[in-house]
Amino acid sequence: MTSISMTTKPLRPTLWIEQRQVFTWDQTRLPFEREVICLENSQDCARAIAGMQVRGAPLIGAVAALGMAMAIREALAKHPGCYREAGWLESLAKALLATRPTAVNLAWAVGQVSASVNAILQASTIDQEPPTEELKADRVAYSRPNRPGNAIADSMASALAEQAWQRALDLVDDDRNCNAAIGMQTQNVLLKHARGQTASRPLQILTHCNAGALATVDWGTATAGIYQLHAQGIALHVWVDETRPRNQGASLTAYELADAGIPHTVIADNAGGLLMMRGLVDAVMVGCDRVCANGDVVNKIGTYLKALAAKAHGIPFWVACPASSIDMSCPSGMDVNIEERSALELSQIRGLPVHPQQTLRQPILVEIMQEGQICYNPGFDITPAALVSGLITEHALINPFKLREAFA
Ligand code: MRU
Repeated sequence: MTSISMTTKPLRPTLWIEQRQVFTWDQTRLPFEREVICLENSQDCARAIAGMQVRGAPLIGAVAALGMAMAIREALAKHPGCYREAGWLESLAKALLATRPTAVNLAWAVGQVSASVNAILQASTIDQEPPTEELKADRVAYSRPNRPGNAIADSMASALAEQAWQRALDLVDDDRNCNAAIGMQTQNVLLKHARGQTASRPLQILTHCNAGALATVDWGTATAGIYQLHAQGIALHVWVDETRPRNQGASLTAYELADAGIPHTVIADNAGGLLMMRGLVDAVMVGCDRVCANGDVVNKIGTYLKALAAKAHGIPFWVACPASSIDMSCPSGMDVNIEERSALELSQIRGLPVHPQQTLRQPILVEIMQEGQICYNPGFDITPAALVSGLITEHALINPFKLREAFA
């Protein structure tokens, strides 16, 4: 993985591809340093997801799809006959699937790439029974030195690698289009259902975490409609939850809204209830990492409390939700593996030193608690379907209790 400083490049799209290499922002360095990372192989992709340089469910899905395609190419370049081995795709997927457990987009995207490769294999007349002797010979031949990098000698193997790559590219494009479509649905929903007197003042939207362009290939999910309404000249203002412990709201959402010139104000995570009580919030708009078959929404820790407060004040609570985030195989939120993250995310914080004499303004990490404190840091929570006004998908606004009918 290489890093490149690119301060003048537009923020969106947040992922792009040049000569089969994947470029995206290093989100651990934002908002202080605008650096691009180049993901050159499947290991880079897995590392970037695990280290949260790449984050947000749809972007994780896109990078995982590209990473899986790279893993397939790497394996076929090394052993062109490996596609004859049972379980070869599953073993290639392991490293990517182990990175982050909660966002279903990751497993979904890896599954999509694998399925497209399997479709070619099934359609082909090739004998897929493992011809052990042939495989052994193949391994010997291709482990010889001086064989060029990822060049694939076998025509079936190169067709499979190409298919995987094309499917991954399609998924990247789909994400952009899907978010634009979610934006169109959101415009209607926000304008129709927002509470409050919006003619005399801007539409007030509260959001949690970063479900913006940085969490996707482009547009964002929760922010797509906001970008589109702003472009049409509709006056709006976004309350941005800081989103402890990693501060995706303050560091990423506020950063990208500022970049797009959208009026916004960062608030402490605990301020939302008071703002709602004072009538300063017309709608809550969040993204999701997984929506379960019963309509429960799994999203960044703290989402649930916002949903409770919104319910108490009769404020609509909308979830922007690409179909790829809906997991009909998962009965309820209680069945989801909620990622438990390092205590260091709570006990340490990254920022710029503010000392006036400080000339070298490099970001630093500081401890914010006494050494040895015990911390517990679940990364996500579960918002029960009963608190969700609607799921805004790329296709339609869906009642969370009617998911089974919608996906029957
Ligand atoms: O831990 P993160 O930063 O990957 O969590 C991100 C969120 O919870 C987002 O709200 C969610 O992925 C939706 S992104 C469109």
